[in-house]
Amino acid sequence: MNVIFLGPPGAGKGTQAVRVCERLGIPQISTGEILRHAIREQTPTGLAAKSYIDKGALVPDEVVIDIVRERLAQDDCQKGFLLDGFPRTVTQAQALAGFADIDAVIDIDVSDEKLIDRLSGRRVCPNCGGTYHVSCLNGSTTCQKCGSELIHRDDDKPETVLSRLTVYHGQTAPLIEFYSERNMLKRVDGAQSMDECFEAILEALGEEK
Ligand code: AP5
Repeated sequence: MNVIFLGPPGAGKGTQAVRVCERLGIPQISTGEILRHAIREQTPTGLAAKSYIDKGALVPDEVVIDIVRERLAQDDCQKGFLLDGFPRTVTQAQALAGFADIDAVIDIDVSDEKLIDRLSGRRVCPNCGGTYHVSCLNGSTTCQKCGSELIHRDDDKPETVLSRLTVYHGQTAPLIEFYSERNMLKRVDGAQSMDECFEAILEALGEEK
């Protein structure tokens, strides 16, 4: 199955993608994670992307489209994939339609107020990608899976979060209409608990709970 997760920053796309990919046995393709890895490795793409990510702007379409086109051509994507964070503009969605068939688009919907709380409290593991909220960490600062010190992503600082939300509403939210017009969109309430959200996504995908 080829799936897209739409939704604003902090909606829970990454959290749910890990569980859904494990259940369906497909790879999670997170453009944000690919770009952050490129920044850590200081590749030309990473160096170019950093200035956009740091201010909460989108990396140029052509850069991200090339990344995804190359990634989807790899062997592990031939039996299905989950796109987490791509497409994010109508231009990206139109390009994607030229090189991949999509079975379902899940929009995870959460209010801006809740998103600001989630992102300001999010802590991530730079080693294994584990994602937490400070309210569940009981004061711990290390990853429960691998023991590494957790970090607060630079783009989760309050001023950058507000820019990311503005970018989402201006450039990414139009994709809701884009996929709705094509009868591909399923909406899931992302304000539910993580387990409820997971079950709602499985139901939307026609999978057994
Ligand atoms: P990216 O990494 O894709 O960030 P994002 O879309 O802004 O999404 P996030 O990772 O912030 O949130 P999420 O929805 O995955 O939420 P999470 O599960 O972590 O992109 C970063 C940057 O890269 C972009 O700003 C852009 O510059 C660039 N980029 C990436 N893709 C691009 C593209 N296609 N085009 C151009 N540029 C691109 O959850 C958030 C928090 O909430 C966590 O603490 C979690 O524990 C908690 N939580 C999750 N679900 C629940 C729940 N149900 N109840 C309570 N808490 C919850």
